[in-house]
Amino acid sequence: MSLLLVSCLKNSTLPHKPRFSDLNNKQKTMLLEDKAKPQCSTVPVPIFLILITGNSSLDIDKEVVMKLKSFLEKQNRVNQGRFVEWNRRSSNPCDWHGVLCSNDGPRIIGIDLSDSMISGEMFNNFSALTELQHLDLSSNTLNGAVLDDLNRCHNLMYLNLSHNILEGELNLSGLTSLEKLDLSTNRFHGEVKFSLPAICHRLVVANLSMNGFRGELDYFDGCSNLQYLDLSSNNFSGNIWTGFARLIEFSLSENYVTESVPASCFKENCSLQVLDLSENKFHGEVPGEISNCKNMVTLNLWGNNFSGPIPSEWGSISTLEGLLLGNNRFSRLIPESLLNLKNLALLDLSNNSFGGKVQEIFGRFRQLKSLALHGNSYTDGLLSSGIHKLTNMSRLDLSYNDFSGGLPVEISRMLGLEFLILAYNHFTGDIPFEYGDLSNLQALDLSFNGLSGSIPPSLGNFRSLLWLMLANNSLTGEIPRELGNCTSLLWLNLANNQLSGEFPLELTNIGRNPTPTFESNRKSKQMNVRPMECSVVKRLLTTDYSPFGFVYTILTMKTCRSIWDRLLKGYGFFQICSGGSSVREYVVSGYLQLRGNQLTGEVPSDIGKMQHFSVLDFGSNEFNGELPIEMEKLPLVVLNISRNRFSGPIPTEIGNIKCLQDLDLSLNNFSGIFPEQLGMLTDLSSFNISFNPFIAGRIPAAGQLATFEKESFLGNPLLQLPNFMSDNQLPPPSLSPPPPPPPPPPSDSRHENEFWKALVTGYGCGMAMGVGILYFTFRKREPKWFVTIVAGIHEWKVKRILKRQQRVLAVVSE
Ligand SMILES: *[C@@H]1O[C@H](CO)[C@@H](O)[C@H](O)[C@H]1NC(C)=O
Ligand SMILES: *[C@@H]1O[C@H](CO)[C@@H](O)[C@H](O)[C@H]1NC(C)=O
Ligand SMILES: *[C@@H]1O[C@H](CO)[C@@H](O)[C@H](O)[C@H]1NC(C)=O
Ligand SMILES: *[C@@H]1O[C@H](CO)[C@@H](O)[C@H](O)[C@H]1NC(C)=O
Ligand SMILES: *[C@@H]1O[C@H](CO)[C@@H](O)[C@H](O)[C@H]1NC(C)=O
Ligand SMILES: *[C@@H]1O[C@H](CO)[C@@H](O)[C@H](O)[C@H]1NC(C)=O
Ligand SMILES: *[C@@H]1O[C@H](CO)[C@@H](O)[C@H](O)[C@H]1NC(C)=O
Ligand SMILES: *[C@@H]1O[C@H](CO)[C@@H](O)[C@H](O)[C@H]1NC(C)=O
Ligand SMILES: *[C@@H]1O[C@H](CO)[C@@H](O)[C@H](O)[C@H]1NC(C)=O
Ligand SMILES: *[C@@H]1O[C@H](CO)[C@@H](O)[C@H](O)[C@H]1NC(C)=O
Repeated sequence: MSLLLVSCLKNSTLPHKPRFSDLNNKQKTMLLEDKAKPQCSTVPVPIFLILITGNSSLDIDKEVVMKLKSFLEKQNRVNQGRFVEWNRRSSNPCDWHGVLCSNDGPRIIGIDLSDSMISGEMFNNFSALTELQHLDLSSNTLNGAVLDDLNRCHNLMYLNLSHNILEGELNLSGLTSLEKLDLSTNRFHGEVKFSLPAICHRLVVANLSMNGFRGELDYFDGCSNLQYLDLSSNNFSGNIWTGFARLIEFSLSENYVTESVPASCFKENCSLQVLDLSENKFHGEVPGEISNCKNMVTLNLWGNNFSGPIPSEWGSISTLEGLLLGNNRFSRLIPESLLNLKNLALLDLSNNSFGGKVQEIFGRFRQLKSLALHGNSYTDGLLSSGIHKLTNMSRLDLSYNDFSGGLPVEISRMLGLEFLILAYNHFTGDIPFEYGDLSNLQALDLSFNGLSGSIPPSLGNFRSLLWLMLANNSLTGEIPRELGNCTSLLWLNLANNQLSGEFPLELTNIGRNPTPTFESNRKSKQMNVRPMECSVVKRLLTTDYSPFGFVYTILTMKTCRSIWDRLLKGYGFFQICSGGSSVREYVVSGYLQLRGNQLTGEVPSDIGKMQHFSVLDFGSNEFNGELPIEMEKLPLVVLNISRNRFSGPIPTEIGNIKCLQDLDLSLNNFSGIFPEQLGMLTDLSSFNISFNPFIAGRIPAAGQLATFEKESFLGNPLLQLPNFMSDNQLPPPSLSPPPPPPPPPPSDSRHENEFWKALVTGYGCGMAMGVGILYFTFRKREPKWFVTIVAGIHEWKVKRILKRQQRVLAVVSE
């Protein structure tokens, strides 16, 4: 029997020092952070008897955990997390990865199975671990409802179920000890009021973000210890809960809460540091009393219908760093007092219909790092406002306005700029040579203006440039070879201009080593440069290509911002197959868009060096000669060379580009025998070889190519199509047509159709092959990061797979 001493401890000391074995840092901080208030707990007095005594309870705990292990192994036969190692190297559960023991007893008090590749239902006997205080099942693909068993874990203080696909209505009313609750990014729905008020008393952190919760918000008053409440991206409606100002962080972003924000919410003792009411349906004036929140760091009112003046009282919130007021109807006058906000780094007043000249006051916000004034129909005042003198600024977004005339040379003195976004205006004339001085630029977006003249070679000075967007202008002349010096440049869009001349050999050097830029971005926090809305991300990704098309299915502010963060830090978010390999990896990759110009000559074989590029769009130019076989070395997902004058044979090597999804070779002058190897491109979802009148040979009746419609093979008199295709009879008569699929999300529709055709064709060649194709279709492109990293996206994945499974079952059972 071990001797225990019960005492109340103050903040600074830990109640008991748990054995962490190899818990990761996140978990450690979470446990160590628990200092919000004094805690009563048991403190072990170290005595030698521990070894001999008390082990029987641990043995029971161990038994439960072993049951948990075999449960998990049964549910996940492939790809298992580190729990498979349990009981292998050590028989003491306290040594196992993700198992946390108390010193007193010892007993198992924590289970961490986060990011352990677990799918299926939840384990139904956590309550047998009677001392369980900490349970983390986050970042897996658990589904189904939360079982009643969990509700019996009365000692649970920390519960993290975030980033799963759990659903159903919430019932956690038994968890009365809970201090931290994270349910974010799941599919819970229904009202919270039946569950939360009952367990509110000790709760400090509650994150319900990204679910389908609904109802009004009038039940948090009893949560007297609550400090962090995140209700963002749900369906909450009605009026705001007026007690929020005693929290430290409150987010209600992306809901349907309406009416006004009463001034009475903001008492003298307001303790808010972060208030995020963005993307709701608030209207009316905003209270000046928010200035009572003397520790406010971020105030985000973006995307409502607030009107009236910006309160001058806010000038006294000296801690304020971010003020986001975009997408509202604030009046034009910016109070002078805001100039006093010494810490203000981010000011977003986009989409407030200001118009006319840029207000003169903006040029005096010398402390700013980021100024967003896009979408305001300004016509003038770029220089008279003096914003070009804000030399410390790192992001300036003036896109979607009505500026005209030449680009001001003076901007070239804003040497701190990392993001300069002037797209969608009416700027004309040359791109100033001096812009090459902006040596810190990571994105230069001048697209959709009326710029003319040639691209200045000085743009080759940018060592950290990731994006160069000059599309849809009237630029002429050659592509400067100096651009090849931009070693970070991964996303180059020169489409729809009047560029001429040859593809410069040096251009194949762009993006050769973006790592230093990504590394420096990983070190610094990018809060100041992150855009609020999706339009920037959509433009920089150019969502018209299928690998990016999914962005449309997940258009929430939150997901766009996560994508933005991933891009800047160089984390890939769709799979590519590097260098002829069929191994799929999430590696960041770029695009080269040259479509709609007058470029001539051959594409150099050095193109094989562009190892970081997955999208090449050379469509509608005048390129000629043979297509270099070195293309096969690129991790291409999209290759469009339509409407050019390529000739000679289609390289059979293209069949080795395993991850290719879009291949458009139409309207060229290819000749020779069509390479049947292209039928091996199992990812292909869009293919076009139309109007290459000299191409001969045959399209194989099985394999991927046979899954496309006749419209992919128009105007090729010498090319022999499979019978069912040329006769326009599909599917073969022996098979009754499948039930019409439910309408899939837009970006998905092509895949779905292709999938069906693959299936049907497979049947034509026998069941075995059909199943083979099926299996393949299932296995490919499994976006793990959907679940774990970019919130909400997994839903897209899961829907798609489920839909397919249903249909397969329907067909197989016929
Ligand atoms: C839970 O585990 C305990 C202890 O191992 C066992 O007695 C009990 O039957 C289990 N309950 C369920 C529902 O499996
Ligand atoms: C829950 O887990 C996620 C992912 O593992 C983590 O990012 C988050 O911080 C955790 N939540 C809390 C409240 O600790
Ligand atoms: C809540 O969870 C979401 C998604 O997991 C995360 O982005 C957000 O930062 C969390 N909120 C808080 C206050 O920790
Ligand atoms: C803040 O002040 C109000 C009255 O002005 C009072 O009712 C409330 O209890 C105070 N809250 C805290 C946390 O002190
Ligand atoms: C914003 O408020 C104005 C007047 O109060 C109203 O006319 C307008 O329709 C509202 N806009 C939206 C998007 O609700
Ligand atoms: C500009 O930045 C530098 C270095 O970060 C800083 O020392 C200086 O005070 C800043 N200037 C203004 C006007 O904020
Ligand atoms: C971009 O330019 C192309 C060709 O000039 C044109 O077809 C297209 O409509 C333009 N796009 C936009 C959004 O203006
Ligand atoms: C390829 O480019 C051509 C010309 O720019 C365009 O018409 C066609 O739609 C593109 N193909 C695909 C699959 O996007
Ligand atoms: C197209 O290719 C054929 C066959 O190789 C050749 O005879 C013809 O001259 C080519 N046409 C053009 C316009 O290049
Ligand atoms: C292939 O390209 C031709 C010529 O541009 C076009 O008419 C046809 O519709 C395209 N086929 C498909 C499937 O997009």
